[in-house]
Amino acid sequence: MVKKTLRDIDTAGKRVLVRVDFNVPINGSGNVTDDNRLRTALPTINYLVENKAKVILVSHLGRPKGKVVEKYKMDPVAESLSGLMGRRVVKVDDCVGEVTKNAVAGMKEGDVLLLENVRFHPEEEKNDAGFARRLAEPAEVFVNDAFGAAHRAHASTTGVARFLPAVAGFLMEKELEALGGILEAPGRPFAAVIGGAKVSDKINFLSSLLQKVDLLIIGGGMANTFLAAQGYDVGKSLLEADKAGLAKEIIKEAGDRGVKFLLPVDVVAAKEAAPGAARVTVTVDQIPPDYMVLDIGPKTVAYFTEALKNAKTVFWNGPIGVFEIEDFSRGTKAVARALAGIDAVTVIGGGDSVAAVRDAGVADKMTHNSTGGGASLKFLEGKQLPGVAALLDR
Ligand code: 3PG
Repeated sequence: MVKKTLRDIDTAGKRVLVRVDFNVPINGSGNVTDDNRLRTALPTINYLVENKAKVILVSHLGRPKGKVVEKYKMDPVAESLSGLMGRRVVKVDDCVGEVTKNAVAGMKEGDVLLLENVRFHPEEEKNDAGFARRLAEPAEVFVNDAFGAAHRAHASTTGVARFLPAVAGFLMEKELEALGGILEAPGRPFAAVIGGAKVSDKINFLSSLLQKVDLLIIGGGMANTFLAAQGYDVGKSLLEADKAGLAKEIIKEAGDRGVKFLLPVDVVAAKEAAPGAARVTVTVDQIPPDYMVLDIGPKTVAYFTEALKNAKTVFWNGPIGVFEIEDFSRGTKAVARALAGIDAVTVIGGGDSVAAVRDAGVADKMTHNSTGGGASLKFLEGKQLPGVAALLDR
């Protein structure tokens, strides 16, 4: 690790501003429905509490675009975190200004305070220097533990580092080590399984991945665009027809580089993406015109599983089907189980895929479950993450 971490700095009794990624799903009743990002921040928070620091947590939640949006307030997060920590985490109604200063002034050693959503201020995403200074003002040290937001150059991820000594938290350190390992020296064969809805979201990532992997498996909605590019009729499936050219280029590049490139050979399709919808399982040349592809079929499960069997490193990002609907979750779960069963370094990148390995009951069998979706893709593209670059070098 080239960056300084919490262990390299004295935090005892200090006011420590900790950027966390508490961008968690919250349901209509105001409850956090997946607290993984809170749990993974606990090692840093608990360490600071034990060291008698005053812990000031700041995060974004959703994309409120610089305005106060009721459903993106941090109150449910404070409640959930209080439950996890078995102690009260006080939430303040802003992240800068008098209210924040007063709340920090009233903190005792070992207290934990959660600031309001930093994206309620438009200056956050503009990385405004004045705003970053105001954020930094009540603190003496900055710890960035928000790997999931490290690809954003915002005031709370990079700006504050201009005003405070800035180091990585334990989650940030763990993420950088796990992902750094597969970027720098992956055991081979190195396989990537990439799913999710759109090719356009991951186009740069896919081409840079082809320079690194030996095997690339494509599933999820984006596979339809590749299938269509190969001349298959994908019926009413989610499809980016205008990306067929790019898909063809990727297939060609894989061939030129000698990367094995796998697409589904059979699929589960239905007339609508709804629980209980009538389904058919067909080969990819038999997709009915009024059906949409929602999962991979059993032949594809076997084909992908066999291909992954000898891999020594696997990176997986993006669900393979509409996994949130039970009827279309089999392919995603099967891939999760296949990864759990092989002797390889397995790294799962981001929210949906991590949720899928948890649903399949195999999360603890993976080498690393990353909390960063976009951040892990950027990192594996070989790009420097601004939130990491801003930290002090060792
Ligand atoms: C994420 O959920 O990937 C991170 O919290 C980053 O969120 P953003 O894409 O809204 O910046």
